[in-house]
Amino acid sequence: MKPIQVGLLGIGTVGSGTFKVLRRNQEEIQRRAGRGIEIAMVADLDVARARALVGDGVRVVADAREVIANPEIDIVVELIGGYGIARALVMEAIAAGKHVVTANKALLAVHGTEIFAAAREQGVMVAFEAAVAGGIPIIKALREGLTANRIEWIAGIINGTTNFILSEMRDKGLDFASVLKEAQRLGYAEADPTFDIEGVDAAHKVTLMSAIAFGIPVQFDKAHVEGITALQAADITYAEQLGYRIKLLGITRRRDDKGGIELRVHPTLVPATRLIANVEGAMNAVVVQADAVGATLYYGKGAGSEPTASAVVADLVDITRLHSADPHHRVPHLAFQPDALAATPILPM
Ligand code: HSE
Repeated sequence: MKPIQVGLLGIGTVGSGTFKVLRRNQEEIQRRAGRGIEIAMVADLDVARARALVGDGVRVVADAREVIANPEIDIVVELIGGYGIARALVMEAIAAGKHVVTANKALLAVHGTEIFAAAREQGVMVAFEAAVAGGIPIIKALREGLTANRIEWIAGIINGTTNFILSEMRDKGLDFASVLKEAQRLGYAEADPTFDIEGVDAAHKVTLMSAIAFGIPVQFDKAHVEGITALQAADITYAEQLGYRIKLLGITRRRDDKGGIELRVHPTLVPATRLIANVEGAMNAVVVQADAVGATLYYGKGAGSEPTASAVVADLVDITRLHSADPHHRVPHLAFQPDALAATPILPM
């Protein structure tokens, strides 16, 4: 069978990682997907750089719409980021009957309802494992591994930049601004680092986890969002003296007593003896409390080229399996589908 044809929109850090992982692990990936997966086209404004990265045999264009218009392309991978052009391109790809893989948490947290509805309408899949906690397969854990459970709450360190800043400030006594610069240099921070330090990036991610865990629409606008900019070195020292670590946590919790769901991001005092208090540097960790299994903990790299590519490729494999079993796209398994709890409100803080 002809390999499934993939078009990449944007070949920056994650796109080049995706290309490398697919090429390096080609044989295993093909065996697991039941079919080859081929990046057939790449769209990037910097055509020369993109060509140098992908080599011969892959068509490189400047205009992403050429990828979407190509009837040979089965899956579009959106790695542009942001809400602007990325939103238009994802909607156009869905309208053209393409499955979509995206790492764009901002886009889905803000426009997810519209995007998932369009995907359902078209019978295509929108997969976004890479959008939350990078290489940690937390979306699959919530959707598949924990599917027998009633999820009670989720709490996670889901922004590597802020965890790196808090760790470095505590361990090395460095000041906020210089550690942020270092996080940017290491490629952890968003293009606009205020999204990291003001808690917005973590809120995008916890919004997506909340929607999946509780079967509610994505409602980023209802999240309580507080970042780490008001923290001072003294707060970190005092927390330490009292036996706590300060962590920026994304938290979502079912509150049956209040008839709603909490959705919040804020600096949190975590007892120093807890596993999650000891997650250092740019690493991510998510704890999920569920009724049957109890607490489970997921730990790993939440950002970076190949860790995020690992999640992108996992989605490509899932879609390839499902698409090959049902080429007429009648089973949008991966599209987000709110369930009976859809009317459950997010509680004001
Ligand atoms: N800026 C994000 C972080 C990148 O620091 O975690 C991964 O989403």
